[in-house]
Amino acid sequence: MRGRPRADGPGARMKFTRDWEYPWTLLRGQADRGRRLLDCGAGYSPLPFLWASRGADVYALDRDALVASTPRYLAWCASQLVRDLASEARRAAPPPADPASTTARRPVEVPRAGRASPSRPRGRLARFARYHLARNRERLSRVARPDFWGPVSPALLRRYGVRYLNGDITRLPFADGTFDAVSCVSVLEHMARAARLAAVREMARVARPGARLVITYDVVDGDITGELVAAAGGAAIERVYFHASERLYAPNAPDVVGVVIQI
Ligand SMILES: C[S@@+](CC[C@H](N)C(=O)[O-])C[C@H]1O[C@@H](n2cnc3c(N)ncnc32)[C@H](O)[C@@H]1O
Repeated sequence: MRGRPRADGPGARMKFTRDWEYPWTLLRGQADRGRRLLDCGAGYSPLPFLWASRGADVYALDRDALVASTPRYLAWCASQLVRDLASEARRAAPPPADPASTTARRPVEVPRAGRASPSRPRGRLARFARYHLARNRERLSRVARPDFWGPVSPALLRRYGVRYLNGDITRLPFADGTFDAVSCVSVLEHMARAARLAAVREMARVARPGARLVITYDVVDGDITGELVAAAGGAAIERVYFHASERLYAPNAPDVVGVVIQI
């Protein structure tokens, strides 16, 4: 797989704790030929591809992740750029004229010869475009050098045989007992309490008896492991607590919990 090397540090684009969340989940998923696995809230994670490279039959599901070929991704980048430009243009537009005030004494702007007037719409648009092209450079650079931050390439999905679905993990579109392992990495902390418990119930429903749920979450509103295990109706067979040593870099980084629940 092609990936971009990254340097850890305050500017790293991948969250530090993925350094153990991915390998830990990868191993606990026990991906082997003949096993069927599901990654819930997969985003742009490498996990489904790594599992598939070990011969497992892998499904990934996310609500928002973009699955797009290069031309579609380029079109999407362009639409984002246009959206940014439009919102800038709206913000930069002068407020509607107050009919009560008089503009008679306002000086008339006369552009100097050989120079574009800064207030001319075309000059302003060019400046906006330059600014936003620079801001979107990273997004655009993925066209030439895909990485794990999107989009999910249909060609990569085909090569690895990963099935990537758009959907909500609180309503999984699978029959009961379909999977040998279900993972969910760093998703539940982004959901409201009721929704995340519903999601765990769904994961347990689509897991076959004896299967494992492999879950990691950031401790943002306390340790919720007990609630998750109860919602799954299984038993926690392993629990790891990762104290964020990256506090050295990021003082408010949360701790992360990993739990394996046997159904
Ligand atoms: C922080 S990202 C983690 C992505 C991936 N698991 C990883 O480790 O890189 C959280 C992901 O959860 C997805 N997500 C959040 N709520 C969801 C829901 N109800 N159904 C499906 N996906 C959801 C988001 O779209 C996002 O891609």
